[in-house]
Amino acid sequence: MVRSKANAMMNSKSYQAYQNSPYKSKKHSTYFDVYDTLFTPYIGKDITFIEIGVLGGGSLFMWREFFGPQARIIGVELNPEAKRWEQEGFEIFIGSQSDPDFLENLAKQVGEIDILLDDGGHTYEQQIITTECLLPHIREGGLLVVEDTHTSYMEGFGFKSRSFIKYATNMVDRINKRFSKLVSEASEKRVWGIRFYESFVVFEVNRKATSVASAPTDNGGKDLDAKDFRHADNQAYEQFLNKSQSMSALKAIPGMRALARLARHLIALPSDIKRSKRLKEYF
Ligand SMILES: C[S@@+](CC[C@H](N)C(=O)[O-])C[C@H]1O[C@@H](n2cnc3c(N)ncnc32)[C@H](O)[C@@H]1O
Repeated sequence: MVRSKANAMMNSKSYQAYQNSPYKSKKHSTYFDVYDTLFTPYIGKDITFIEIGVLGGGSLFMWREFFGPQARIIGVELNPEAKRWEQEGFEIFIGSQSDPDFLENLAKQVGEIDILLDDGGHTYEQQIITTECLLPHIREGGLLVVEDTHTSYMEGFGFKSRSFIKYATNMVDRINKRFSKLVSEASEKRVWGIRFYESFVVFEVNRKATSVASAPTDNGGKDLDAKDFRHADNQAYEQFLNKSQSMSALKAIPGMRALARLARHLIALPSDIKRSKRLKEYF
């Protein structure tokens, strides 16, 4: 099993390009499948690819081999020594990914970006500022990819209550607020969808799709008046909901909410208790 997994990694196109790079790069074994999945559609295309964090140079060569000669490979680095990679035909910008002015200027100079890969300093502040500043500059259909997002669970990268993963999951809430019944000012219009992999968060930019008005539709087919059983399978909750709606006037009385919660626990059906215990595992 382990052996076949290792072989799969070695057969991946990004892993081969990584191995062929003449300069040092260190990447986790699980990253290559993610790169191949995300980036294969861009191979051989005339794209603008930016990587943040390129000092060692190894990944610049890896991406050049992976995407092919049509791709414009751009590196962003805080350490000015990275300028040396310009001699190899790469465009290099020196500055900090947590500086919004630097990022704005970068975007102005490079134009629309097809893929932004953030492999820089991995602090939450750097990751969030980079995402916020560069999302508007990702081309329609492009990707903003943040790597090493496991730092959200580690010490030393910022306050965990403001971690990058918390930022990304807040954005999940805002994406769902585009739904017709929930639609609100806080809904997300820049990002169509987000993909989560081990150590990666991928923001898919599709402004056309996010601007479609969310509304129920009907295909006009013959209606057999089929009974929807969804409520039949959720009776304990439905009963609770009905009771609490009929008593909603009482909620204004101080302490009544807590009393209602207590009553809820006392009157809960055994099957409901079993179900909520099972769900507890997910929270
Ligand atoms: C993990 S290494 C990059 C490795 C490279 N991408 C690879 O795969 O071989 C991180 C790089 O990010 C750079 N870096 C750290 N903080 C940065 C910042 N605020 N802005 C830009 N680059 C930064 C570091 O100097 C370092 O070279």
